[in-house]
Amino acid sequence: MLRTLIATTGIALTLGMSATTASAADVENGEKWANRVCKACHTFDEGGKDMVGPNLYGIVGATPGTREGYDYEARNPNGSAAIHFAENGLEKWTEEAIAEYISNVTAFQDKYGDGNRSAMVVSLPPNAAPDVAAYLATLN
Ligand code: HEC
Repeated sequence: MLRTLIATTGIALTLGMSATTASAADVENGEKWANRVCKACHTFDEGGKDMVGPNLYGIVGATPGTREGYDYEARNPNGSAAIHFAENGLEKWTEEAIAEYISNVTAFQDKYGDGNRSAMVVSLPPNAAPDVAAYLATLN
């Protein structure tokens, strides 16, 4: 009985620790949703082609609105928001910023993009955004 109790407590402690030391985001779930939702407009592989949106390889840590070879103005007939993100305080894409962006693109564009309405439209299930952002962080 005591032995069982000790063993059970040991497992609980181990689980508790891994939850606090590792990121809570689920990269596999993020990849699944990225493939379902983002792939309509983005490629993820190194040197992948630009589509409606720019290639996203190495996007975490990059300066927003500066993907080489992607013509932000031409691909967004109603205006690019991303080319204004850096001047409004988002100097580098972090995992957290991407999660915020894809949770509510319109609100994010109002906050950092001078209200420009790009061609980016996203619909993700609630809570999937941090997982997708964590997946993007693995692409480098
Ligand atoms: C309907 C097409 C479309 C879909 C779907 C889409 N995007 Fe985009 N994405 C765009 C466009 C267009 C831009 C450029 C926006 C701009 O210039 O303001 C963009 C820009 C971005 C940027 C900023 C790139 C930069 O240069 O700074 C990120 C990050 C991004 N998208 C992530 C995602 C993720 C993650 C998903 C899936 C959850 C997604 N997008 C789904 C069209 C799309």
